[in-house]
Amino acid sequence: MTFRDGRFKGKVAIVSGGADGMGAACVNQLSAEGAKVAILDIKIDLARTISAKLQENGASVEAFEVDVTNETALRDALGSAIKRFGTVDTLINVAGGSASGLVAENDISIYDRLYSLNFRSTIIACQCVIPVMRKNNSGSIVNMSSISGLRGDPDWSPYNAMKAAIINMTQCLAWEEGQYGIRANAICPGPVASERMLATITSEHKAEYGHSIALGRIGTAKELAQAILFLASDEASFVTGTTLVADGGLTASTAQPTSWAKLPRHSPKS
Ligand SMILES: NC(=O)c1ccc[n+]([C@@H]2O[C@H](COP(=O)([O-])OP(=O)(O)OC[C@H]3O[C@@H](n4cnc5c(N)ncnc54)[C@H](O)[C@@H]3O)[C@@H](O)[C@H]2O)c1
Repeated sequence: MTFRDGRFKGKVAIVSGGADGMGAACVNQLSAEGAKVAILDIKIDLARTISAKLQENGASVEAFEVDVTNETALRDALGSAIKRFGTVDTLINVAGGSASGLVAENDISIYDRLYSLNFRSTIIACQCVIPVMRKNNSGSIVNMSSISGLRGDPDWSPYNAMKAAIINMTQCLAWEEGQYGIRANAICPGPVASERMLATITSEHKAEYGHSIALGRIGTAKELAQAILFLASDEASFVTGTTLVADGGLTASTAQPTSWAKLPRHSPKS
């Protein structure tokens, strides 16, 4: 990848969870399009490897080690990133994770953990960048939700509930900060082939995903980065408070078996 001018020329972007998966794809694309990028991640070795590689191409990328569930550490890391680059134009909150279990049986601590990892961390990160964005009278925030935040799934309430909360909080934020020229949007990926995601599914699951997705395959991190960067960029200057679904068509169906029976089952693509 070569460093070049683009939609983010001269802009400063902060990406939480930028060391791997969709976050790393965002970092690569942002830097290819001219942004200065701060990667905030718990996997600091991976974050440093990415930043060193991009720096070799002339990009301005810094890695900051942080566990986003630690409020003080997260505020410090965001403060350091803003200090390092002098401002912040774009915040992309990708860091997050999942857990499963039945509502009736789950240990309540599972909800506390996912609240802290997905929802609380997203709010704290927003709080850290908003004062700077207000001063600039511009800024864009993209919060990572999921199609899991749009519907219920058996056995997935800890994750689904937190991703749903992110959507609603983002809509509130869009209203609160619109007057300062700050946009806030949520992204809802369907199944995306990150290492973490692939580790949790079997080959049978993968084949089933192929059948339940209109495009016949799970998505790539790069495809999601493209959708996220649209929301983050000035191309989306009139887009705020929205929830962009990028799921290959998975949630476009109501999954009625009688209707599906008429659809030839195509072979899932990899
Ligand atoms: N992969 C999917 O199918 C999918 C679908 C919808 C939404 N999502 C969401 O997208 C986001 C990224 O998912 P992914 O599949 O690309 O995962 P991933 O594991 O590849 O990336 C997550 C990144 O967040 C970092 N991270 C995790 N916990 C952290 C913590 N406590 N502090 C700091 N950094 C931390 C990880 O080190 C990693 O770099 C998550 O919020 C996930 O819930 C994923």
